[in-house]
Amino acid sequence: MKPTEIHQLHPQRSLHALGDDDILTLYGTTDRAVPVVRANFIASIDGSSTVGGLSGGLGGPADKRVFDLLRRLSDVIVVGAGTLRSEKYDAMRLSMEASRWRVDQGLTAQPHFAIVSATLDLDPSSDVFANAPVRPLVLTAESADPSRRHRLDRVADVVSCGDVRAEAEQLVEALISRGLTQVHCEGGPHLLGTLIADDVLDELCLTTSPLLEGGIGPRIASGGADADAVSRPMSLNHVLMSASMLFIKYSRSREASR
Ligand SMILES: NC(=O)c1ccc[n+]([C@@H]2O[C@H](COP(=O)([O-])OP(=O)(O)OC[C@H]3O[C@@H](n4cnc5c(N)ncnc54)[C@H](OP(=O)(O)O)[C@@H]3O)[C@@H](O)[C@H]2O)c1
Repeated sequence: MKPTEIHQLHPQRSLHALGDDDILTLYGTTDRAVPVVRANFIASIDGSSTVGGLSGGLGGPADKRVFDLLRRLSDVIVVGAGTLRSEKYDAMRLSMEASRWRVDQGLTAQPHFAIVSATLDLDPSSDVFANAPVRPLVLTAESADPSRRHRLDRVADVVSCGDVRAEAEQLVEALISRGLTQVHCEGGPHLLGTLIADDVLDELCLTTSPLLEGGIGPRIASGGADADAVSRPMSLNHVLMSASMLFIKYSRSREASR
C-alpha cells in the first residue's frame, strides 16, 4: 500500500457473525514457542479507560466475549496491583468450557495468574490467593517490605524483577523462564506504561467503546514523565465490530522500530 493511500472498510457489505473458533484463530498463534506479550484494554472514543473509576462501564457482552476468549489463549494473565484492588479481582478461574478447550489444545486447564506490585499491599487471605486453581505469581521488587513478602510467600511464588519496581524485561523473562510464553496483560494503565516504556509489548488488543466520556479518566497507558515518552510504531492486524463497538488488534512493527 502506498503511504498516501486511504481505504474504506465496508463492514456492512461483508458482515458475518464470527464463532468462538473464528475469534480464537484470529487472536491465536501458530507457534506458542515464540513469546508474545499482549495487552487487552478498552477505551471510550475520547480516550478514557474508565467510567466512574472502573472499566466495566465501557464494556458489554461482546467485549466480555473477546476478553474471555483472550484469557483462554494465554499461559499467564498479568495484572497490576492497582487494577486487582480497584476491579476487585477474584481467583483467576476460567469456565469449564474454556478449561475443556484448553485441555483439548494440549494446554493446562487453567492459565497462571501474575500480580505486579512494588508495595506488596496484597491480602494473602483474599480469594485471589485462597481459591486460586494455580498457585499465583507475585512479581515485585527487591525493595518490597520483607514481612509482607514473607506472608505472601506462603500462598504465592514471589519473584523479584527489579530493585525498586518490576522492570518489564525482567518480568517477562521471569515468566518465559517458567515456560509461560503467551503473556496476557489485562491492565492497568501504569503497568501498560511500564511495558511500553521498557519496550516489551508485542501486541495491543484495543476495544473502542462507542461512548464520549469527557471528564478526567486516565488513558490506557500512563506513568513516567513526558521526557520518557516514546513512540512505538504498530501495525494493524484486524478490526472486528459488534454494533458500534470496535475490536482492534495491533502488533509491533519490528522492522520499523528496531
Ligand atoms: N480500560 C481498561 O481496559 C482498564 C484495564 C485495567 C484497569 N483499568 C482501570 O485502571 C485503573 C487503575 O489504574 P492503575 O494505573 O493504578 O493500574 P495498575 O497499573 O494495575 O496498578 C498500578 C499499581 O500496580 C503495581 N505496578 C504497576 N506497574 C508496576 C511495576 N512496574 N512494578 C511494580 N509494581 C507495579 C503497583 O502496585 P503497588 O501499589 O501494590 O506497588 C502500582 O501502584 C482502575 O480504575 C481500573 O479500573 C482500566
